[in-house]
Amino acid sequence: MPLALQTLREEILELKHRRKAVILAHNYQRDEVQDIADFVGDSLELSRNAAAMDCEVIVFCGVDFMAESASILSPHKTVLLSEINATCPMAEMIQVDAPRSVRPSYPGYEIQPSFVFPHNFTLRDIKARYPGVPVVAYVNTTAEVKAESDICCTSANVVKIIESLPNERVICVPDRNLSMWAARNTGKQIIAWDGFCHVHDRVTKADVYKAREAHPSALLMAHPECRPEVLELADHVTSTSGMLRFAQSSDAAEFIVGTELGIMHRMRKENPDKIFHPLRTDMICPNMKKTTLNSVLRALKENTYIVKVPEEVRVPAKRALDRMLEVS
Ligand code: 13P
Ligand code: SF4
Repeated sequence: MPLALQTLREEILELKHRRKAVILAHNYQRDEVQDIADFVGDSLELSRNAAAMDCEVIVFCGVDFMAESASILSPHKTVLLSEINATCPMAEMIQVDAPRSVRPSYPGYEIQPSFVFPHNFTLRDIKARYPGVPVVAYVNTTAEVKAESDICCTSANVVKIIESLPNERVICVPDRNLSMWAARNTGKQIIAWDGFCHVHDRVTKADVYKAREAHPSALLMAHPECRPEVLELADHVTSTSGMLRFAQSSDAAEFIVGTELGIMHRMRKENPDKIFHPLRTDMICPNMKKTTLNSVLRALKENTYIVKVPEEVRVPAKRALDRMLEVS
């Protein structure tokens, strides 16, 4: 290990100990950030750990909604988001009461079926149109959206959460692909929102055919944020940590990985004898990559950037997160 990196790591570990801090990192973080973390996981595991960790400070290496969830669940701990501009564009696609004026788009974007609500509506508009229909908020949402929702879900538990509700119809925000995946696997009627993750939604069937042709004996794992036509072609659809478990438990020796490339670090470390190929080499979340070891050091040294959710939002948002944690 280069000396500068070694020194940086030592400084972080020393400060972490002094401040009674823990470092939580998402599976998409840079390799060196994952390596210094106390815990690396998917959104569900990170929420659980944030609530359970015995510490004074949580340094969150991920994107803002994840740090917000940690703060909602642990209001007495100092929660630091190591890079303030690490946001999730999908989480910003839905607002509680201020419609977006611009429809997010990028090359290759296609309009999905009409049961999906467009962006010139707000969450309150949908709730007013469907009184009594429960709202399931993906954790990739702001604290305000969670506070307006009945229950949260992650990609790991969306089917279980929706099945736990007695209603035949549920509103599911903001990811249209996750919603369609849930509709297919629960048999319930899902009123969806037109949000998407630009990293996963860019994958097409052609990418799958190309990857399968290049690696004919590999199994394809895909994240439910991918389009339905891509998920249909996958051997296993699951959250990021679900993929890590599948990679370990499967007898297969080769895999095509349909999610953000940061996950390959753990996959390769945990399965040195297996081979992992990216489904697309550009499945990189720029926001997840903003955090570096220097960001972590600065966070610990300068107490940046404190994430604190106002009580009037935190309390109802916690109710939705707690309900999710109870069910899953
Ligand atoms: P996981 O909950 O599967 O880790 O996914 C989080 C995410 O942001 C996917 O893009
Ligand atoms: Fe958001 Fe997609 Fe990045 Fe996940 S990968 S944090 S959903 S933009």
